[in-house]
Amino acid sequence: MEAGRVVAPPTASPRHALDLSARVFVAGSRGLVGAAVGRELRRKGFTNVVGPTSAELDLRERGAVRDWFADVRPDVVVLAAARVGGIRANATRPTEFLSDNLRIQVNVLDAALEQRVERLLFLGSSCIYPKFAEQPIREEALLTGPLEPTNNTYAIAKIAGILQVQAVRRQHGLPWISAMPTNLYGPWDNFHPEHSHVLPSLVRRFHEAKEAGISRVLNWGSGTPRREFLHVDDLARACLHLLEYYDAGDPVNVGTGTDVTVRELAELVAETVGYRGSIEWDPSQPDGTPRKLLDVSRLTALGWTPRIGLREGIAQTYDWYLEHLGSGAVRQ
Ligand SMILES: NC(=O)c1ccc[n+]([C@@H]2O[C@H](COP(=O)([O-])OP(=O)(O)OC[C@H]3O[C@@H](n4cnc5c(N)ncnc54)[C@H](OP(=O)(O)O)[C@@H]3O)[C@@H](O)[C@H]2O)c1
Repeated sequence: MEAGRVVAPPTASPRHALDLSARVFVAGSRGLVGAAVGRELRRKGFTNVVGPTSAELDLRERGAVRDWFADVRPDVVVLAAARVGGIRANATRPTEFLSDNLRIQVNVLDAALEQRVERLLFLGSSCIYPKFAEQPIREEALLTGPLEPTNNTYAIAKIAGILQVQAVRRQHGLPWISAMPTNLYGPWDNFHPEHSHVLPSLVRRFHEAKEAGISRVLNWGSGTPRREFLHVDDLARACLHLLEYYDAGDPVNVGTGTDVTVRELAELVAETVGYRGSIEWDPSQPDGTPRKLLDVSRLTALGWTPRIGLREGIAQTYDWYLEHLGSGAVRQ
């Protein structure tokens, strides 16, 4: 880790102003995060955003990634491609969560170094922090204790990515950075019944229960863990803000700084969806980390705050879900 809390005070002009004609590679451009970053880039007027799908460029294929970088020569890279999943997927497929993520990262970061890509943002996740880290979790908690076992292979891969970014900064002098988002949700999320995160899985479960007239929905775990949720459009804004204003090797947490219990979240989703049956819990299923709230003071000090509240964000996500249901855009 780099020493101290390296936070430059917000300045009127960015440290690394991005040219609107810069060629920006959004790796994972069809995913929850990548799609939002692409939308935000286009909204801001970037005209040269590229983002092949995994079918067009499998980032686990080292030779293909090298050739693609040499050919396209991006100026900016946002690394939002990863094998991502909820608690069940992480618990049942730990091998792929380690192997695929390591390969994706190493291939992209090595190829970007070979082309001397000037600006690169690596996206990790709040699960990199120790299971019992002091709350709210500061960036300094990284590597200070054991990880949550249910997703430790994913976390180790992401930690390796942060260290590779730091190593490139030290050894090669490129101003690459890492961001650690909290739990995200929004349009283009994964609504798969087994491979999704808690918020989209609740949206789907309550919607289907309402449609089918089911009077009882049973959820995994006790409902007591506390979690923080950030709308992905806010994350996309934060990513561009960091690319322009942040230049240090320590990761930056991206979140709202507030949390709710999973039970409160379920009630909010049920209310939004219009499900009026009973909400029940199965405490024999694992809960994961008891609380996960990020300390976002480093990001706040850089002059960034979220705009979308949880109630508004869930309503907007449910509207998107209804609009896209059956269109192929809703992954299920
Ligand atoms: N979702 C969250 O709550 C959350 C929270 C914190 C951090 N993050 C971080 O944000 C990043 C993106 O997550 P996400 O939620 O956007 O995931 P996602 O919706 O599942 O999207 C993952 C993206 O990665 C791409 N991808 C996967 N394997 C690939 C491969 N072998 N080659 C090329 N592309 C591949 C997929 O491409 P195709 O669609 O073309 O297959 C997809 O676009 C991850 O690093 C994750 O750790 C997410």
